[in-house]
Amino acid sequence: MDGVINMNELIKIARALVANDKGLLAMDESTPTANKRFAAAGIPQTVEARRAYRELLITTPRLGESISGAILYDETIRQQTKAGVSFVDALKQAGIIPGIKVDLGAKPLAGFPGEKVTEGLDGLRERLTEYKQLGARFAKWRAVIAIGTVGPEQLPSGGCLDANMHTLARYAALCQEVGLVPIVEPEVLMEGDHTLDRCFAVTQQGLTMLFTQLYTQRVRLEGLLLKPNMVLAGKGSFEQNTVEQVADATVTCLLRSVPPAVAGIAFLSGGQSPEQASSHLNAMHNQFTGRLPWPLTFSFARAIQQPALDIWKGQDANVAAAQQALFYRASSNRAARQGQYQAKRT
Ligand code: 13P
Repeated sequence: MDGVINMNELIKIARALVANDKGLLAMDESTPTANKRFAAAGIPQTVEARRAYRELLITTPRLGESISGAILYDETIRQQTKAGVSFVDALKQAGIIPGIKVDLGAKPLAGFPGEKVTEGLDGLRERLTEYKQLGARFAKWRAVIAIGTVGPEQLPSGGCLDANMHTLARYAALCQEVGLVPIVEPEVLMEGDHTLDRCFAVTQQGLTMLFTQLYTQRVRLEGLLLKPNMVLAGKGSFEQNTVEQVADATVTCLLRSVPPAVAGIAFLSGGQSPEQASSHLNAMHNQFTGRLPWPLTFSFARAIQQPALDIWKGQDANVAAAQQALFYRASSNRAARQGQYQAKRT
């Protein structure tokens, strides 16, 4: 550790990412994930197709009105538009702060069948330094927590939660040392047939352990953003919850487990439809007006991008229509932050 962290600079960036009712565009799909989504949409899985798609996202007119920051991936942070402008510069020109996914993916956790731990701490200091030189101002690391059963055992195990929360805290400390705002993402997955109550309990337990680890590793909460899941029943659950119930459970869980010093909270969408994700965020703002200690916003990938990807289909002729769909979802989420979103089909 050399030198004192410029905490004021970190706090400024963290606050800018959640200011003015804006939120983040997650466009940090790893190459295998991007290819999987392209394959499902019938788009060729090439470097050029991935570059062209990311250019479409970044150059969407007026995107900066609702998007404060965009999360890039190692491949993307080094790419340029057709006109030769680096993606980092194109984002800055649009008034959007560039960020970068820095974890190396979730791998099976030894000794814990069915559970994963996210890798990437080795050599992270050097990689963060390079990303900062390339223009990133914040970073993201995702841990995944599965709910379920393996034999007689209930998931998640204490061992899996411990390993992931410790790793997230080590990552966050390294980011702050280098001068990047860490986005800390402990995602409780929607896969499974669990109830909303079970998701609430696991999310609360995970977040409580996470903040203990962040404290132990001396991470400054004012210079950090949390990216949690919403509290939802599993995709395979028979339980149907209303938008109001989800909003109530999610914010109640966060109020019990996230210190007010945290600069902001920006949700992942996790497999919800675009309309569901926006409706839930909207209801949280309506039901908890004046009672939120932190800015509460979005950092969606699928719930912002999916309609645009479906329209694009890899064709130049569809770029403008795809950009309109992206703009619509981004501005819908800004409206949700203001409690003014009205769901309608895109
Ligand atoms: P989704 O919004 O598609 O869940 O993705 C957010 C994200 O960044 C996952 O790491």
